[in-house]
Amino acid sequence: MSDALQKQLNHIDLLEMKQVGKKIVSLTAYDASFSTILDNAGVDLIMVGDSLGTVVQGHSITVYVELDDMVYHTRCVARGRQRALLVADLPFMSYATTEQAAQSASRLIKQGYAQMVKLEGGGRRVEIVSHLVDQGIPVCGHLGLLPQSIHQLGRYSKQGKDQTSAAIILDDAESLQQAGATLLVLECVPAALAKTISERLTIPVIGIGAGADCDGQVLVLYDVLGISKGYIPAFSRNFMDSANSIQGAVQSYVSAVRSGEFPG
Ligand code: KIV
Repeated sequence: MSDALQKQLNHIDLLEMKQVGKKIVSLTAYDASFSTILDNAGVDLIMVGDSLGTVVQGHSITVYVELDDMVYHTRCVARGRQRALLVADLPFMSYATTEQAAQSASRLIKQGYAQMVKLEGGGRRVEIVSHLVDQGIPVCGHLGLLPQSIHQLGRYSKQGKDQTSAAIILDDAESLQQAGATLLVLECVPAALAKTISERLTIPVIGIGAGADCDGQVLVLYDVLGISKGYIPAFSRNFMDSANSIQGAVQSYVSAVRSGEFPG
């Protein structure tokens, strides 16, 4: 194994970080230049999110992102990073069946050089996760607010606020882990629910708008840099406000997550 490969993080490294209580730092990226900046700043986990549909492509929602777009941007990000674990989103309707999911995930891994794929939802998606894991594909689940379901949801809002919906999210989280998912993103859920899920699961839980008690945090890079043109969620923070450079802003984010200062 080459030095470069030895230094590249994988899901076992993130699991060990959870086990020793070291916060996992994650950001999104969509190109090689930002990928290198994130990698050099010590970001552990780079997510090529389908948020690229809004922040890069200028759509108002993420459902218009195509698998080809994800493959292209994942490959760009892969060229820029050496150490960080690289996770790529399966876009809307690219994993409707187990066969389609396997074909889509295979492209993200073989053509995009992703190490893991992320997909939104629990319930019937659990079978898809299990199928991907059976093929040797590491999977990151995504529960809580599911941006790909925006037409069903009607608006972006906190999920799991009542007992019934919180119980469904907790149940889905346990089922995803049982199916072999090795990472979970929890978006926009109450902090108490995120804490319970993070404690209950053995796999790392990465929060976004889910309070301080997750095993790690992720934000959309363009929100952190204050350059998103549309709506910026209240839970995010513009780290450029107190930095002189993009590198400085990303480094402050890394330190703030690592120390537990962000989210407050
Ligand atoms: O699409 C995205 O960027 C994401 C991350 C913020 C988790 O799903």
